[in-house]
Amino acid sequence: MSTEIAPETGSAEQAPGGAPVREPQAAAVASGRGERPDDGSFDVTLRIRRYLPEKDATAYWEEFTVRANRTDRLLDALHTVKWEIDGSLTFRRSCAHGICGSDAMRINGRNRLACKALLKDLDPAKPITVEPIKGLPVVKDLVVDMEPFFASYREVMPFLITGGNTPSAERRQSPEDRARYDDTTKCILCAACTSSCPVFWNDGQYFGPAAIVNAHRFIFDSRDEGGAQRLEILNDKEGVWRCRTIFNCTEACPRGIEVTKAIQEVKRAMITRAF
Ligand code: SF4
Ligand code: FES
Repeated sequence: MSTEIAPETGSAEQAPGGAPVREPQAAAVASGRGERPDDGSFDVTLRIRRYLPEKDATAYWEEFTVRANRTDRLLDALHTVKWEIDGSLTFRRSCAHGICGSDAMRINGRNRLACKALLKDLDPAKPITVEPIKGLPVVKDLVVDMEPFFASYREVMPFLITGGNTPSAERRQSPEDRARYDDTTKCILCAACTSSCPVFWNDGQYFGPAAIVNAHRFIFDSRDEGGAQRLEILNDKEGVWRCRTIFNCTEACPRGIEVTKAIQEVKRAMITRAF
């Protein structure tokens, strides 16, 4: 497939957030695919929030039009832009299959994984907006600095804590006890939940849903002995009590984790000291 790029026209359209749009790297599709309307392929325009600190101190929107197939995901379209139109476009991805959690971004105003978002489900008749997740410093284009997110994660001690170093026997657990924290074992640390939380946007100090989910995973593990310590950490003014039960986190989670429910269970454990 080859893609022909039209020259920049420099229109001054306003995009979401009020930033100007560099209009467009609108690509005229010159490949043979464009001549076969019944092959199911279609043109899609991505309106991407760009930030290239080495060139420009301010962020702006830029549009790219690419040819896509019915089964393509947003990640495929981003690859087409990067590999065929503008190699400077920067984003994270690794597994491309919803496992590594590295490509969370804000797509049409909602946090999702680019590798799990099918273009056909994103209303491709209109430009699809693609932005970095909110609440974390933007490093370049769609890449944010995840360090504040991982600092909160580390603070809740996301590892098994036991009294002895060497177990004399296997640490056994009943299926019922295992089921208590099954949901929260599914977290892939993508930050979609934390960066969709208005409390986190307003106050970067809040631990955020992901750290609480990962504390939950160990607090309710019958083999773990660090639950009281973790509850003490999350009893902080920037801990679970900052949650306003808005449910953005649950809606954003690509793993289907009931994030708000997990936060409620941690709050309850803090009051009852039963876990
Ligand atoms: S709880 Fe869900 S949204 Fe939050 S970091 Fe884990 S996988 Fe991502
Ligand atoms: S690239 Fe790994 S989750 Fe999307």
